[in-house]
Amino acid sequence: MSVIAPQPGILDIELYVGGSSTVDGVAEVVKLSSNENPLGTSDVVKQAHSKTGHNLHRYPSTDHAGLRAAIADVHKLDADRIICGVGSDEVLQFVTQAYAGVGDEIVYPEHGFSMYPILAKMVGAKPVAVPERERTVDVDAILKACTKKTKIVFIANPGNPTGTMIGSNEVARLADGLPKGCILVHDGAYTEYVEGFDGGASLVEARDNMVMTRTFSKIYGLGGLRVGWGYASKEIIDVLNRVRQPFNLSTIQLDVAEAAVRDQEWVEKCRAENTRMRAWLAEALAELGVPSDTSTTNFILARFADQAEAEACDDYLKTEGLIVRRVAGYGLPHCLRITVGDEPACRRVAHTIGNFKAEYRGGGK
Ligand SMILES: Cc1ncc(COP(=O)(O)O)c(C=O)c1O
Repeated sequence: MSVIAPQPGILDIELYVGGSSTVDGVAEVVKLSSNENPLGTSDVVKQAHSKTGHNLHRYPSTDHAGLRAAIADVHKLDADRIICGVGSDEVLQFVTQAYAGVGDEIVYPEHGFSMYPILAKMVGAKPVAVPERERTVDVDAILKACTKKTKIVFIANPGNPTGTMIGSNEVARLADGLPKGCILVHDGAYTEYVEGFDGGASLVEARDNMVMTRTFSKIYGLGGLRVGWGYASKEIIDVLNRVRQPFNLSTIQLDVAEAAVRDQEWVEKCRAENTRMRAWLAEALAELGVPSDTSTTNFILARFADQAEAEACDDYLKTEGLIVRRVAGYGLPHCLRITVGDEPACRRVAHTIGNFKAEYRGGGK
């Protein structure tokens, strides 16, 4: 027998499954499974991308000063309290590595983002999933679940795959009610879809036990670039920088992300279009008997009668080249998560689900 064994918890990790992007036998597909921006990236960003990369023999900046200054400038934050990572996933990993280990607990809502239990297991901590209320974060349930061993609480606000969110008063109540020494990570991957929302930045400014994470993967249309960032007290950022590789972001990532954050016109345009099509799609699906909670994100969590109907609908959509996301792994087997696409994609989804419903009912199911 081999004596080469990984650290505790590693073999318990179930590999992250990304949204699929192909369907066997279907040439033309519309991918609505990964909450990507259907409008892609702005021209400003495309130009920045084409200009960067001329000095590839040089190592990139280790402190990300340019990108941090741009983020601070645009969001009116303190650049010294910002850390940048390979997607916000990496920032979530820094926090986990730095603050939790074997024997600790990491608490998150039952339908929380699937990276949270993966990160807990990565450091040998125990993942503790806490019930939600009507697919919404339940602050009291989280506080009740916390013990002296709880080192990190993760919430995504707005949530993925629920699409729901809780107000700032509730987030503050959660942060202030945590056991001493426990950090609240306020994962803001979908912040920009909520007009006027600061993603929890002002709550972070006022306390030393919170981290906010943000990403360029969603509204900025840069999922392929892999850049995210975090905001916390100077003390926490200092700790996180110690577990960060010095050259974690390439010159290309840094230059393109900086151009993107400065182009807030694009963010506004994408938010407005998402809001318009999300409302249209939610209403069209509701009329077909497929309800959803009010979404504050760029996707809709469509609820079906049961798992069998949700899976049959997913199969039907696939045959039409429409790829959405099953979320049984998130404890929501009767739901499908559908990214809000552009107008033609939304119309196709609604039309196809209408056809499915008619056939499914007609089939006596
Ligand atoms: C809630 C949530 N957090 C974090 C992430 C990670 O995003 P990224 O690593 O691309 O910044 C995602 C991506 O889907 C997400 O949905």
